[in-house]
Amino acid sequence: MKKKALIFGITGQDGSYLAELLLKKKYIVHGVKRRSSSINTGRIDHIYQDPHIKKRTFLLHYGDITDSLSVTRLIKQIKPNEIYNLAAQSHVQVSFESPEYTANADAIGALRILEAIRFNNLEKKTKFYQAGTSELYGLNEKIPQRESTNFHPASPYGVAKLYAHWITINYREAYKIFASNGILFNHESPRRGETFVTQKIVQALCRIKLRKQKTLYIGNLYAKRDWGHAKDFVKAMWLILQHKKPDDFVISTGRQTTVKNFINLVSKELKITIKWKGKGLKEKAIDENGNIIVSCDKSYYRPLEVNNLLGDSKKARKILGWKPEFGLKKLISDMIKSEMQRISS
Ligand code: NAP
Ligand code: GDD
Repeated sequence: MKKKALIFGITGQDGSYLAELLLKKKYIVHGVKRRSSSINTGRIDHIYQDPHIKKRTFLLHYGDITDSLSVTRLIKQIKPNEIYNLAAQSHVQVSFESPEYTANADAIGALRILEAIRFNNLEKKTKFYQAGTSELYGLNEKIPQRESTNFHPASPYGVAKLYAHWITINYREAYKIFASNGILFNHESPRRGETFVTQKIVQALCRIKLRKQKTLYIGNLYAKRDWGHAKDFVKAMWLILQHKKPDDFVISTGRQTTVKNFINLVSKELKITIKWKGKGLKEKAIDENGNIIVSCDKSYYRPLEVNNLLGDSKKARKILGWKPEFGLKKLISDMIKSEMQRISS
């Protein structure tokens, strides 16, 4: 019998890569998409259209993580072996503007799924994966951050994810559900949303290279992130649910880069020569002809900044045998290649 997986957040970056991975592993993949006024299936349309994928092995359902009835009904109908909760309002800055919605989707959303597993008597059948985040560490700058590091979230997003993290542990301990948290550090890809900093930088610099844009406007240049490739990270999600017991794992590359250095690396790959001048909000990158390529804009600064994220994923490497295959250079060249193709088509 084929295993059935249910992915909340299938239309997102990670959902699309996870669906591909699970289909390769011969799962029947069910995904939940929300109704939107414009098409939101761009990242998974190729799966749907793939003639090698049988229609009965990849199924999409309308639903919403803020709607208990749809969550409970879908879990009752499908009775999945594995549920991956990737659905979230996942933008940290936006969470300051929509804190209540973020709490509803990102915190209570996890509770709704766990409660539906219990309500449908699926405690022994259904394993649950919760998409946790390095944002849980927030203002705790003691690096590297590992499973035992104290949490100090610094945004409504981080606080909502903290609830989701603990309710997952609570349902594991109280009801013996196989419920695990992945504490994933930043991961990117050509499918990364356009408003996250790596994709924003790649898209702007590609357009600048092709003279379709003049300047990239950016926020804090000195935040440090541990950036990996989403393809590597979805493998970790699957491994976490295949482990013999439920547990929590940090997933990270163990390498740290500033936003400014990410800009330097992308510029170098695109052969755009830049020199940095000025300080603070006046800091700018200028090209050989004196054009301002990068300029700071206050509106991209957050009320509170997470400055220093660097993960230690020793536990996952040792217990799950996980390790990342993509380096930062390969990630950047993949993102540039895909963006250049997108612009030219
Ligand atoms: P993403 O691209 O923003 O995808 C989020 C997904 O959640 C989308 O499919 C979105 O649907 C869906 N969604 C949002 N609100 C929903 C709702 N109310 N009901 C149902 N679905 C909803 O995020 P991602 O980068 O793939 O990340 C996946 C998960 O991992 C998220 O929970 C994120 O917080 C977490 N995470 C991400 C990273 C990272 O660096 N990428 C690191 C740590 C943790 P639409 O397509 O309709 O918007
Ligand atoms: N988005 C954005 N836009 N970020 C900027 C900008 C800008 O113009 N300029 C500077 N930054 C800085 C942010 O202040 C932050 O320090 C860093 O770049 C990364 O920002 P994002 O790419 O938006 O990601 P994030 O780290 O806040 O959150 C992502 O990673 C988390 C895991 O640590 C998201 O994917 C979260 O969902 C995820 O949990």
